[in-house]
Amino acid sequence: MKKITVKDILKMKGKKKIVMITAYDYPFAKLVDEAGVDIILVGDSAGMVVHGLPSTIPVTMDMMLTHVASVARAKPRALIVGDMPFLSYEASIEEAVRNAGLMLKSGAEAVKIEGGSEMVDVVKALVRAGIPVMGHIGLTPQRYLLLGGYRRRGVKEYEAEKIIEDAKELEKAGAFSIVIEFTAADIAEEITREVSVPTICIGSGPYCDGQVLVLHDLLGIYEEIPPFAKKYADLRRIVIDSVKKYAEEVRNGVFPERKHYFFSKRRGAEK
Ligand code: KIV
Ligand code: NA
Repeated sequence: MKKITVKDILKMKGKKKIVMITAYDYPFAKLVDEAGVDIILVGDSAGMVVHGLPSTIPVTMDMMLTHVASVARAKPRALIVGDMPFLSYEASIEEAVRNAGLMLKSGAEAVKIEGGSEMVDVVKALVRAGIPVMGHIGLTPQRYLLLGGYRRRGVKEYEAEKIIEDAKELEKAGAFSIVIEFTAADIAEEITREVSVPTICIGSGPYCDGQVLVLHDLLGIYEEIPPFAKKYADLRRIVIDSVKKYAEEVRNGVFPERKHYFFSKRRGAEK
């Protein structure tokens, strides 16, 4: 099937729901692509779900480039979006362009940055450099210190207005889509109606052009997941049970079986 481009994503607005999921490496990029998702987000959530960090703040460009390159080697049909980590795009426009450019050189086909109206200059500069940009508003985890934690957004009127304004500014600046995280569903609905680019929601209700989930939440790798995520599998159980079985078979001498080993010529090189 034909490679999905930024143009294809834009055309899906109002016609077909956009399915985005995170992946951080070659094997899972292969699997989620085979499942037919539209966008693979190489999220900085990697810091938490893959590296065991307490937040996304410590995630570096080097970490992200390694993940992006690993995903890109799977040659997915889905659009690959590389998440810009904290401090890779805030300090200066020049740094932002260089770092986003490195994402593309590693195989990303677009980048995502957190922030609304305050990031307009950065979005414009990236687009000018030929780098497609996905926005990210509402709950922006890289700013959890400023926001007072991972809290619901857009319940109060002043916050709702700011988030709607953020979306409009990002659209004007040239973002090709906007992630809306943990924001009141009616506010996400209004944004989806008011902007011409697709909205992709997480924890912001059903009235968006698409949805995104963190792969490890969906697969049930961890016991705890955010309130807005859904477990579609219990991979934690499957992994633990499989490794337990392996350990038991090693300890009981059941594994390896005869088909798993060979002999030298001394024994006539028996198969
Ligand atoms: O890093 C990530 O996984 C994300 C999504 C939750 C949107 O930014
Ligand atoms: Na992220």
